[in-house]
Amino acid sequence: MHKVLAIETSCDETSVSIVSNIGDTFRIHSNIIASQIEDHSKWGGVVPELAARKHLESLPFVLDKALEESKIKIEEVDYIASTVAPGLVGCLRVGSITARSLCMLHSKPFLGIHHLEGHLSSILFSENYPKKSFLTLLVSGGHTELIKVDERRGMQRLGKSFDDAAGEAFDKVGRLLGLSYPGGPAIEKIAKNGDPMKFNLPKCRISDKKGGFLKYDFSFSGLKTAVLRLVERMNLDGKTIPIPDIAASFERVVAEVLVERTIKCADDHSLDDVVVVGGVAANNTLRKMMISEASKKSIKVHLAPLNLCTDNAAMIGAAALFRIKFKDHLSSLKLGVAGRLSIEQANTLYEENPPF
Ligand code: KG4
Ligand code: ZN
Repeated sequence: MHKVLAIETSCDETSVSIVSNIGDTFRIHSNIIASQIEDHSKWGGVVPELAARKHLESLPFVLDKALEESKIKIEEVDYIASTVAPGLVGCLRVGSITARSLCMLHSKPFLGIHHLEGHLSSILFSENYPKKSFLTLLVSGGHTELIKVDERRGMQRLGKSFDDAAGEAFDKVGRLLGLSYPGGPAIEKIAKNGDPMKFNLPKCRISDKKGGFLKYDFSFSGLKTAVLRLVERMNLDGKTIPIPDIAASFERVVAEVLVERTIKCADDHSLDDVVVVGGVAANNTLRKMMISEASKKSIKVHLAPLNLCTDNAAMIGAAALFRIKFKDHLSSLKLGVAGRLSIEQANTLYEENPPF
């Protein structure tokens, strides 16, 4: 059995988790998450400097609670991991410096983890997760990507958003409808009372220079603008804004776009398993639609456990355990942090001479 203490501070959740695995079975011993949502909601979005300061304040207490709840002493942990990219640099630094200091103090090996690899590793805690190549739809506040993952974690990005991430679109539309932050859960809640077919909103595509459209890529900023224009027009006409209907129509279109392109990509690449992870993967309309459309093509859908869709340290620990199990990977204690890093470059985090 390998035990990992993992730290996640890339955005607005301070989280520490102790996880372990025996072979293919992954287990969470504790997963403490201190959310900063209340601190940021009055600003309508995450304020990076405030987020970094809050991580500094909370991390010692979150760490203490995670160890206490796990009933595992830090001396008994085999590895220490933290998210090092991508994310808000000041925030990443807090987690990474804490993890590396603990490694030095307790003579433990360190693993720096790519945040998106963390999200896709959340699936390791679900039953019957795919063991061969699969397609991941990663939908969060910062990313919307289609990633082909092979048995040994070779990763290839097959699609991405050219502008807003799906979660970002939820947050922006939530704000313009006057809902609370973050927009995703607020839109999902109010959409339950709305008609998803009431408004015909656009499914934006990216033009291919060779003609036609890119098949597996996304664009959500046009959809957000369409909602804005709809609201502006209704305001000018003196109409009451039917917020539940707009929220439901927006949610349906986002889910349809994500599902259609994911299923097409899996089908074209002969991948029988689709994994859905990230904050937006918590959305019930998306979860249901993905399962029902995939079944028409005999594709199996694996959804991230609901409590592990948004940022948490257990998924970072799972990514570390997978790296140790299959690749014996460790990072240099000199590894720093980076605001941006493509998932295809995740292997560089384990080079003797770190990339940053
Ligand atoms: O993965 P995450 O916690 O952070 C990033 O790495 O970005 O994702 C946060 C995003 C936010 O944009 C939030 O609005 C969205 O996930 N989200 C949802 C739901 N829950 C969270 N979007 C749609 N429906 C939800 N139920
Ligand atoms: Zn995330």
